[in-house]
Amino acid sequence: MKILGISFSPRKEGNTVAMLKEALAAAEKEGAEVELYSVAGKDIQPCDGCWGCTKTGKCHIKDDTAVLLDKMCTADGIIFGTPIYFWGMTAQAKAVIDRTISLNKPEHNLNNKVCGVVASCGSLGMASGLKDFSYYIIQRRMLPANQVSAYLMGPDDLQKMPKCKEELNKLGKQMVALVKMKFKYPDEFARGPGAFGTHTK
Ligand SMILES: Cc1cc2nc3c(=O)[nH]c(=O)nc-3n(C[C@H](O)[C@H](O)[C@H](O)COP(=O)(O)O)c2cc1C
Repeated sequence: MKILGISFSPRKEGNTVAMLKEALAAAEKEGAEVELYSVAGKDIQPCDGCWGCTKTGKCHIKDDTAVLLDKMCTADGIIFGTPIYFWGMTAQAKAVIDRTISLNKPEHNLNNKVCGVVASCGSLGMASGLKDFSYYIIQRRMLPANQVSAYLMGPDDLQKMPKCKEELNKLGKQMVALVKMKFKYPDEFARGPGAFGTHTK
């Protein structure tokens, strides 16, 4: 079982990474293989809306996102981690999320993967940032795990918040427990990247 934590902070050793490390350590204690991936210093381009991936199943943009998408597809569970930037996720998080529109092949998608979220912010905007992940998790046919948020500014702030650490530990354990359930949407309902709404085509 593999659990992948992704930090969408541009800071290599910030609060988001600290939160992810805590949750991943708990998952590892439960027997999971864990990996922490940080977008800090990586080349992450936004989706250019070409729709070429609907035919090829691959995004044509050559950057570091390709490797990350493969890691996401081979993990059993993913924990997204983001700082809140102006009431939302970071630009890097949104870019990677948009690029997952290319994951539309039966052997290359996010269906049924367990997905937790951790978010760190200074004072305002947590709920509006987290709601976007919630919509995303539903749309991608993933199984939602807990979302853990904290108000953190300094590098050691997490260490001063035992309740938050406890929740992050719970998340790590929960990820492993949920993966073990082997949840699977019935194939007839496991849609690809289609919209929920109806349209003329
Ligand atoms: C460009 C930018 C925008 C931010 N916007 C918000 C915000 O809207 N609300 C908030 O509470 N904190 C905001 N912050 C503070 C970060 O969310 C906070 O410091 C977070 O813990 C940083 O996480 P990191 O250490 O993982 O990068 C912002 C920080 C930056 C750099």
